[in-house]
Amino acid sequence: MTSLSPTIVQIGPLSERINHELSSQHRVLQLWRHTDPAAALAAHAHTIRIAVTSASHGCSAQMIEALPQLQAICSWGVGYEKLDVQAARARSVQVSNTPDVLNDCVADLAWALILATARRVGQAERYVRRGSWGGTHDGTFPLGNRVSGKRLGILGLGRIGAAIARRGTGFDMDIRYHNRKERPDAPWRYEPSLRALAEWADFLVVACVGGAATHHLVNAEVIEALGVKGTLVNIARGPVVDEQALVRALQEGTLGAAGLDVFEHEPHVPPALLDMDNVVLMPHQGSATVETRRAMEDLVLQNLDAFLRTGKVLTPVWE
Ligand code: 8YV
Repeated sequence: MTSLSPTIVQIGPLSERINHELSSQHRVLQLWRHTDPAAALAAHAHTIRIAVTSASHGCSAQMIEALPQLQAICSWGVGYEKLDVQAARARSVQVSNTPDVLNDCVADLAWALILATARRVGQAERYVRRGSWGGTHDGTFPLGNRVSGKRLGILGLGRIGAAIARRGTGFDMDIRYHNRKERPDAPWRYEPSLRALAEWADFLVVACVGGAATHHLVNAEVIEALGVKGTLVNIARGPVVDEQALVRALQEGTLGAAGLDVFEHEPHVPPALLDMDNVVLMPHQGSATVETRRAMEDLVLQNLDAFLRTGKVLTPVWE
């Protein structure tokens, strides 16, 4: 082992900018570049103190176990269901994510999906592009649905859910939410039953965390309650929704529409959805703006620097 041994393992690639920032300022083991990552990790296990990862690359219990000197995991992204936080906690390894800086852009995308599904934006765009407007099929474009003044249900009133709800007030919407616990500070009505929220809502937006606790929370029964008058929007995590039940409801016409930024087995999208005009599909773009992605990168670097300077990350997943 030499003094040049890496102190940081970067589990997967991030943007070129952050890859470069990390590798030019620190001694970094870029794990994804190794054909035998386990061997590379084993070779440097005794000098690595920090792991840099992302919401999608995660960090497994085996990885934590393989790094006896690990003290901190700095992750890019707000979701951490692919990070074994229990294993980290058991070893007193600090974990940071990038909360707050993406709230606005993810909420904006939820709204893009609400508006695009209701006003048939994707379908209308395809209609114009294929020359149907003014062509033989002109005049047949179907009416959309009104958004302003409708009922907005939010599943998960965290920081992103609240940002989505606040935007709803600008559309004069009646807003209710379902959460693990009522939030006494929230100006919107709490609905203790998700099924009842779905029954009431015109738009049900999924904004809760992913992971085992929320797996298939939006099941066939909830989708049925949302019904033909309803639109499901998911900007959270694919597995929160039972995707098979969702596809079935859309095929059978028992659900009105869906706007989806996330899927159960990304990047796989159920082929049946591809031909549906009442579905708007996005490739997991919630936080994907120049400004937000830069802010997320900066926050990873700030967490890393804070840990190196003070021994504490700035935005820990748990206090
Ligand atoms: C990323 C995300 O777009 O922050 C998160 O948890 O889901 C997003 O910001 C995603 O991790 C990209 O794969």
